[in-house]
Amino acid sequence: KANLGLKDFIHISDFDKDTIFKILNRASEVKALLKSGDRSFQPFKGKTMAMIFAKPSMRTRVSFETGFFLLGGHAIYLGPDDIQMGKREETRDVARVLSGYNDIIMARLFAHQDILDLAKYASVPVINGLTDYNHPVQIMADALTIIEHVGQLEGTKVVYVGDGNNIVHSWLLLASVVPFHFVCACPKGFEPDEKTVEKARNAGISKVEITNDPKEAVKGANVVYSDVWASMGQKGEAEYRRKVFEGFQVNEELMTLAGPEAYFMHCLPAERGVEVTNGVIEAPNSIVFPQAENRMHAQNAIMLHQFGL
Ligand code: CP
Ligand code: NVA
Repeated sequence: KANLGLKDFIHISDFDKDTIFKILNRASEVKALLKSGDRSFQPFKGKTMAMIFAKPSMRTRVSFETGFFLLGGHAIYLGPDDIQMGKREETRDVARVLSGYNDIIMARLFAHQDILDLAKYASVPVINGLTDYNHPVQIMADALTIIEHVGQLEGTKVVYVGDGNNIVHSWLLLASVVPFHFVCACPKGFEPDEKTVEKARNAGISKVEITNDPKEAVKGANVVYSDVWASMGQKGEAEYRRKVFEGFQVNEELMTLAGPEAYFMHCLPAERGVEVTNGVIEAPNSIVFPQAENRMHAQNAIMLHQFGL
C-alpha cells in the first residue's frame, strides 16, 4: 500500500500526540455540526466502507454505519457468517478483494494478527473495531468524553477496575503518547500484557500504575472505568471469573472512596450486578451514554484523518 501502514488506524500509539488531539478536535467540530441538524457536510460522498464482524456488536456496528452514512457514504455490514476470515477464505485474499470494491475497511476480529494482516494486504485504509488485544476507537471516544466532562485529558486520573483486557491495552497505548494518570486495578493473574505496560512506562509520558487493590486505586480518581470480566471469546469462563473478580465490582462503596467528583465510565455492554451495580450506572455522575454516543463522532474524525479530508 502507498504510505504503508500510515493511514491505517490499528493502535493509538501509531500516532503522535498532536495527531491524536487534531482528531479529537475534529470530532468535536463535526459533532457540533451534526448535532445542529446540519447535513450539508458530505465528505464521504461516493465512498463505501466494508465492515467485517467476527464478533457481535451494537455500538461499533451502528456508530460506524450511521456515521459513515451521515457524512455521505455507504457502509456494508458483513457478519460472522459472511466472510469467516481465515476459515472460508484467507485474510490476505479478503483484504485484496474488498480493496477492489471499497474505500476503507473496518474490522472487529479475534486474533490481533488478523487485523495486522488485513492492513498489510489491503490497498485501502483499515480501521480496527476491536481485537482480542485492543480497542482503539473506543478509547478515542473515551478521551473525547473525558475532555467534554472533566475539561481535559492531560493530567486526568483514570482508574480502570477489572480485567487487564483489550480496553486496558488501548488505555496504556494512549498513555504512551498523551500525558495523564492511568491506573489498572485487576486481580492477580489478570494483569494487562507486560510488553504493553512496559511500552507505556518507557515512553515516560504518563504515570502508569498496575495494582491489585481497587479501593486504594480509586482514591482521587476523575474517572472510574469498568468493563465486563469475561470478554467476547471468554464467555465460557464467566462463572469462574465471577469468583476470581470478587472485590472488583464498581459499586456505591467504591464510588464513595473515589470521591464526589469522580465520573463513572464503561465501554458497554455492561452486566449490571456483576462488574458494576445498577445504581452506579444510573447515578448522575455516570457518563456511559454520552460516552457511547461519542463512538460515532470519534470514528468519523478518525476516518476523515485516514482519508486526509
Ligand atoms: N463498546 C463496544 O464496542 O460495543 P459493541 O460491542 O456493542 O460494539
Ligand atoms: N472487553 C470487551 C469489550 C467489549 C466492547 C470484549 O472484548 O468483549
